[in-house]
Amino acid sequence: MESELYRLFYPRGIAVVGASKNPSKIGHIVLKNILDGGYKGRVYPVNPTAESVLGLPCYPSVSSINGEVDVVIVSVPADKTIEVAEDVGRAGAQFLVVLSSGFKEVGNKELEERLVQVARKNGMRVLGPNIFGYVYTPAKLNASFGPPNLLPGKIAFITQSGALGIALMGYSIVEEIGVSSVVSVGNKADIDDADLLSFFLNDPNTQAVIMYIEGISDGRKFLDIASEFSARKPIITIKAGRTEFGAKAAASHTGSLSSGPILWEGVLRQVGALQVKDVQTAFDYARIFERNIKLPGPNVLVITNGGGAGVQATDTLAERGIRLSEPPKDYVDYLRTFLPPYASTRNPVDITGGASDEYYYLALRKALEHEEIHSILVLYCQTMTTNPMKTAEAIIKAVQETDIKKPVVAGFVGGPESKEAISYLSRAGIPAYPTPERAAEALSAIYLYSKRRSVVETRLAYLKTLYGKSQRLVETKIIGEK
Ligand code: COA
Repeated sequence: MESELYRLFYPRGIAVVGASKNPSKIGHIVLKNILDGGYKGRVYPVNPTAESVLGLPCYPSVSSINGEVDVVIVSVPADKTIEVAEDVGRAGAQFLVVLSSGFKEVGNKELEERLVQVARKNGMRVLGPNIFGYVYTPAKLNASFGPPNLLPGKIAFITQSGALGIALMGYSIVEEIGVSSVVSVGNKADIDDADLLSFFLNDPNTQAVIMYIEGISDGRKFLDIASEFSARKPIITIKAGRTEFGAKAAASHTGSLSSGPILWEGVLRQVGALQVKDVQTAFDYARIFERNIKLPGPNVLVITNGGGAGVQATDTLAERGIRLSEPPKDYVDYLRTFLPPYASTRNPVDITGGASDEYYYLALRKALEHEEIHSILVLYCQTMTTNPMKTAEAIIKAVQETDIKKPVVAGFVGGPESKEAISYLSRAGIPAYPTPERAAEALSAIYLYSKRRSVVETRLAYLKTLYGKSQRLVETKIIGEK
């Protein structure tokens, strides 16, 4: 069955109300982003005072457009949005995407309610208000005033903060992280996180979701869909208002009622979501989940050319509940055939500071093939005797030659050459990070998700057998009873 939000992401036509010739106005920038992004549907600028904008003929109203319009982007001052909504309702569009500020977040709750009423009366859904728009790369659709040229990928990002969302779009470009979608939800007057999760759950272009949440309006609806989602794909949450002071700030930002930090943490754990404090960690995790590699088991092997880097990674893993066990004996025997006698063949395996790229290749290749090694963290510290790019090439070669799919994560510490090698590895599908701690933390996310996922799956399956009903209904009942 087609998702209720399908036409928001795959519109046949889009109108931009408030499209302006003035290049500094938001209505101009959004229209330009839509056109420059390569969106293939019809685009209609709407502005009663302009004849054409960006080379397209302008319409005085949406209802005067003679063509299919599924989505209407609204970029006029808040007090004009009701008349626009009435007109769009007459035109029969499905979605109103309201960029305008000046609603609940500044105490103007009545205007926001009125907007939703007009939309409902006309069978429309509202995204926003108070948002920067949205992006969906599979449809080459950038209906936002954020940066253009997002890299297509498998991560969807839902954000209640516009500024953070725009910053994140920039961050993902700089860090070369591909996204399927970025959706600004703002005041969530109608379409909310749960609605969007429902769409991304069945979206083959989305592998994981990052969410920045300040508050949830319908907790039960969120719990239902988020549990279902986590059982299939990871949710990474950046929760704002973790402290009492942050919660107060969130209330005056989008008018959200932020739940208490402890209650919130429990809710997210129950639905299987991963929680991070900052944007960088969220994207570090996202990079890991892009490839959807299943975890074959508990044994992590660390290969490093620097003892200190190995210790840092071991500590980070231990803090996340992952203990390194000794490598299998036949693997150690193999390492001894080429490593110098002063190398350590315990875990972390220290292939020594002078390790050639050949050592990395041999040690990694065998580890990939070994049944008792389930995931591998490869650490590299740049020295004058080694070459980061060559080491990266050796890692990629080992991974590509073996057909075995297990998580391989790299941590490269060093100067600009190491940074280049990190990009090279990431483009080849091997998540790579500039510190051992970030690499270890990212690897641990796979273990944490695997654990959370199986708890959620077990709970959902148990509830289903217990009540013999649809898991969603049953779960709602249980949560309601508590
Ligand atoms: N239909 C179509 N166009 C209309 C219109 C209507 N009913 N009423 C006015 N317009 C035109 C205006 O004439 C203007 O075009 P022009 O430049 O050719 O004169 C254009 O729409 C925009 O209206 P304007 O009054 O100039 O508003 P603006 O562009 O300065 O600001 C918003 C509009 C929505 C951007 C602004 O009110 C706002 O809310 N800004 C904050 C947005 C934001 O930060 N969102 C949250 C991000 S996280």
